[in-house]
Amino acid sequence: MRFLKGKDYKDASRKAANIISAQIIMKPNCVLGLATGSSPIGAYNQLIDWYKKGDLDFSEVSTINLDEYKGLSGEHEQSYRYFMNTNLFNHVNIEKSKTFVPDGLAEDDDRECARYNEIIKSKGIDLQLLGLGHNGHIGFNEPDDAFEKETHIVKLSENTILANSRLFEEVSHVPRYAFTMGIKNIMQARKIVVIVSGVDKADIVKEVFFGPVTPKVPGSILQMHNDVTVIGDEAAFSKIGI
Ligand code: F6R
Repeated sequence: MRFLKGKDYKDASRKAANIISAQIIMKPNCVLGLATGSSPIGAYNQLIDWYKKGDLDFSEVSTINLDEYKGLSGEHEQSYRYFMNTNLFNHVNIEKSKTFVPDGLAEDDDRECARYNEIIKSKGIDLQLLGLGHNGHIGFNEPDDAFEKETHIVKLSENTILANSRLFEEVSHVPRYAFTMGIKNIMQARKIVVIVSGVDKADIVKEVFFGPVTPKVPGSILQMHNDVTVIGDEAAFSKIGI
């Protein structure tokens, strides 16, 4: 595992964007696994900036997102499809038909999971971007007794519902279920880049990357992947001596 420390969030975001942009330049038709949430926004802004300056071309890139709330349409402002459109896709020359997010309104959960799994398997992810939940979740793989392998429906933990309620009018509006890629889907990505920032992530960063590998801390499985880069600001790295 490589740890890259930025002096602040902006610096860390630029480092992450650098790796993503290198991936796009080296393989213009690459498949990027993408995340939502606060952590990747700075990197997305940087990528948009480089695109506008003519340094990046997304025309052949495909993307596969980690997860989506069950019950929200892509037009809902808190859906992850909406997040991706407004924070990245609408500002670069990516073809929307090559951007994949689970369908939050799918009527048949099992069929949607199978469909999404097939997309992941048939395309293969070159670079997977991840954030880290305060409970160690990656995607919406919540702490559990076993690792879930493939795309599945998950009941969000109270901790996650509370953390994500900051973006909703009230806690009761946060969906209770989500579709998420599984751990095997994530681990099969060729490269993984994790972005963490803020002192509130310092404890979980230590647990995930230096603690025992256990489904109780889902991100700890990343210790078993052979190409992981963890990018953080000083605050998020403050408990690991890096
Ligand atoms: C988002 C996702 C989540 C977030 C995590 C961290 O698609 O899958 O695992 O990456 O909850 O969220 P932030 O970055 O908001 O702290």
